[in-house]
Amino acid sequence: MHPTFSIQPEGRSAKSHAKLVTPVHATLGSQPPLSLYVHVPWCVRKCPYCDFNSHALSGELPEQQYLAALRADLEQALPLVWGRQVVTIFIGGGTPSLLSAAAIDQMLAMFRLYLNILPDAEITLEANPGTVEAGRFAEYARSGVNRISLGIQSFNDQALKALGRIHDAKQACAAIEIAQKAVGRVNLDIMFALPSQSLDGCRRDLRQAISFNTEHLSLYHLTMEPNTVFAKFPPAVPDDDSAAAMQDMIAEQTTLGGWERYEVSAYAKANARCRHNLNYWEFGDYLGIGPGAHGKLTFHDKITRHAKLKNPVSWMEHAPRLDGSHIAEERTVGADELGFEFMLNVLRLKNGVAASSFTERTGLSVLAIAPAIDRAVARGLLESDPTRFKATALGWQFLNDLQEEFLA
Ligand SMILES: C[S@@+](CC[C@H](N)C(=O)[O-])C[C@H]1O[C@@H](n2cnc3c(N)ncnc32)[C@H](O)[C@@H]1O
Ligand code: SF4
Repeated sequence: MHPTFSIQPEGRSAKSHAKLVTPVHATLGSQPPLSLYVHVPWCVRKCPYCDFNSHALSGELPEQQYLAALRADLEQALPLVWGRQVVTIFIGGGTPSLLSAAAIDQMLAMFRLYLNILPDAEITLEANPGTVEAGRFAEYARSGVNRISLGIQSFNDQALKALGRIHDAKQACAAIEIAQKAVGRVNLDIMFALPSQSLDGCRRDLRQAISFNTEHLSLYHLTMEPNTVFAKFPPAVPDDDSAAAMQDMIAEQTTLGGWERYEVSAYAKANARCRHNLNYWEFGDYLGIGPGAHGKLTFHDKITRHAKLKNPVSWMEHAPRLDGSHIAEERTVGADELGFEFMLNVLRLKNGVAASSFTERTGLSVLAIAPAIDRAVARGLLESDPTRFKATALGWQFLNDLQEEFLA
């Protein structure tokens, strides 16, 4: 899962930043945990539903050019994170498993050289099922990858075809078994409310996912994203009632199987939450490197966001110039945006966060969002507990409405 607000398909609608109430400043007394996000922008083919910064590969993957640009990107960011410990790394995409084992080894060796990485840092690599890539999992693990997130999507060959996937169900199953042997920690990405999917079809997909007993499942409602092939030529998908029935069935089956839904789309066994994504959702810090990668960093007097050039070729051309021209955006987040940004993330968590973390993470007094809190509580969307920010069951169901209370 990855930043920008990472993989948050269901929370994407509340995008703009409008004015909040008058900010009341406190201080940023401490820095939150720091994660590293690395974007690998290529895929074998572009899936028709996907709006990530991913590009169909034509010809050979320019591994060495990519690694050189990544090194240059990281070098230029080092002053921003000097002395800080990196607690998690997420190599996402795109399809990072298109990179050779040697390239991932070089990449991780470079990170160890430049960064102070927590000895037992969570290091996740996003992978697509497909025989070539799956064969590399054990080698990735030898280089330090300790968690693999597999884009399975479905175990139904027809559905996989409709989604434009390059793998079939047999390859999906094989990849899961290989990943489980290579690293203990495996996540499966599954989508539901797929074209022509019935409740029974969804149940069969979920049963098969559950049968592998991986420690983590990410179960996403297929969304039609602007500027995708599906947005232009929308397939017939289940209506809202059918999708809601699927969501209910998922809640029941995952609970029975021992997974806890701790975030809108994330389900984990005990002690198996994704530490990297949790850091996003808890409004932690992350440095983003690679084309289109976003980041958020906290300093004693400000919180900044950065984004790198989106186009892989432009990013690879500019990063090695060492003049900062690979940076598409770098700005201080306004105090009037922080309340919304904080809530956009933390309210995705089932248990929310301690109210005290608002001041710790934003440097603002809770007074800055008091009117919005009152409104959300009055609408029954936010728990009235003054020590926690946590959505009610209703608020979680209508999360965008709740988050938007913190805009304007
Ligand atoms: C960064 S993506 C890609 C991971 C990997 N490249 C793959 O597709 O197998 C992470 C996950 O987001 C989910 N996803 C992508 N687009 C989506 C959409 N439009 N609606 C719902 N989920 C989506 C998919 O489950 C996907 O595996
Ligand atoms: S493989 Fe993953 S990242 Fe690539 S186009 Fe498909 S969904 Fe997007």
